[in-house]
Formats: sequence, C-alpha cells, structure tokens
Amino acid sequence: VVTTLASVTESTKLQNLAATEVDALSEAFANWPKPCSLFERYAAMAAAGERDVVVAWSGERSVGYLTIAWTSPYQPFAVAGIPEVVDFNVAARQRNRGMGHALMDEAERRIRIRAEFAGIGVGLTAGYGAAQRMYVKRGYLPDGRGIVVDGEPVAPGSMIVVDDSPELMFTKRLR
Ligand SMILES: CC(C)(COP(=O)(O)OP(=O)(O)OC[C@H]1O[C@@H](n2cnc3c(N)ncnc32)[C@H](O)[C@@H]1OP(=O)(O)O)[C@@H](O)C(=O)NCCC(=O)NCCS
Repeated sequence: VVTTLASVTESTKLQNLAATEVDALSEAFANWPKPCSLFERYAAMAAAGERDVVVAWSGERSVGYLTIAWTSPYQPFAVAGIPEVVDFNVAARQRNRGMGHALMDEAERRIRIRAEFAGIGVGLTAGYGAAQRMYVKRGYLPDGRGIVVDGEPVAPGSMIVVDDSPELMFTKRLR
C-alpha cells in the first residue's frame, strides 16, 4: 500500500517495509539503540503476516516508522483482540511536520478494518512527552491497569526504575 501524504510534502510516502530497505531504515535510526537486527526481525514478522511495518519515506530517506502487532505482546490486549501499535518513531529533525499523525492515521485505518479498538503503550519519561500528548489528543484512553513493565502490572508500593520500560497502555475505539 502506498499512500502519498499531500499534507507533508509531495515526495513523502508511506509504504510497507520491504526486506531490501532494512539497511536504509537502520541507518536512518542509528541514533537510537536500534540495531539492524531489529529491522530484520520486523521484515520477517511482516513477511509472516504477524506485523505491518509502515515506513514514511521522504524521497530516498526513511524519516519515520511504526509497526502494528496484530497479536499484541501485551496479554490483556491479545485476549481482547486489540492490535497494538509497537515502536513508533519519527527522526528527530523531521518532527512537528505532521509525519507522526500521518503514520498513526494509516495505522488506525488498517486496524479499523480488522478490530474495534487500537492499543498503544507509552513510556512515562519526558522523552515520550510528545507521544503522550499526541495519543490523548487522538482520543486514546488509559486501559485502567496502571503502570506495566514488560507487559506485567506493577504492584502498588513497588520500587521501579523509570527508564524506557515502565509504560501506561492506552486504547482507542475505532468503530
Ligand atoms: C511521538 C512522535 C512519533 C511524533 O512524531 P511527529 O512527526 O513529531 O508528530 P506530528 O508532527 O504529526 O505531530 C506533532 C505536533 O506537530 C504538529 N504539527 C503537525 N503538522 C505540522 C506542521 N505542518 N507544522 C507544524 N506543526 C505541525 C502537530 O499538531 C502536533 O502538535 P500537537 O501535539 O500540539 O498537536 C515523535 O515525537 C517521536 O518519535 N518521539 C520519540 C519516540 C516516541 O516517543 N515514540 C512513541 C513511543 S510510544
């Protein structure tokens, strides 16, 4: 599926990840600890139909991506048949130009065909601040289960390290 985003630039497109593009993607996102092997795994999961991997391209450069896990790794979503948007990134210099919303529009369009709800998790640190604001603005609500680490609920009174792991999980009704 190729969608041209008139709202960004005429040369910006959303496309499904092709295995041949793994190098370009891992180079573009080398600032994060995102090894090539991660994108190879995504390409394999896409080929197996387990995930959709949607990449935003500006000309030859990949500027953002997200994946849709059709069976969420988070048990409550998996049990409820809620697909989850996992690993959503826009390259730092390309932010605040509508790319993130365009990727989320495309993810929700695909999920709506198969499911009533979309799910997403977001970290608690300021590094995830833009995402936290975006999901609330887009109509996502916390799932009410509180903080989870690696998909498991954190018991009240627990000591945890607030790094990239603790998340709140959100859902949005799509139909
Ligand atoms: C979250 C993230 C993906 C958002 O990507 P993005 O491309 O900056 O998102 P957008 O540009 O669509 O939207 C961001 C803001 O820019 C605004 N915007 C959209 N188009 C714009 C334009 N043409 N000009 C100026 N601003 C614009 C949006 O309205 C939005 O502002 P708002 O929050 O006040 O509504 C990005 O910040 C990111 O990669 N963050 C780090 C990783 C992360 O947190 N990922 C999510 C993990 S759960």
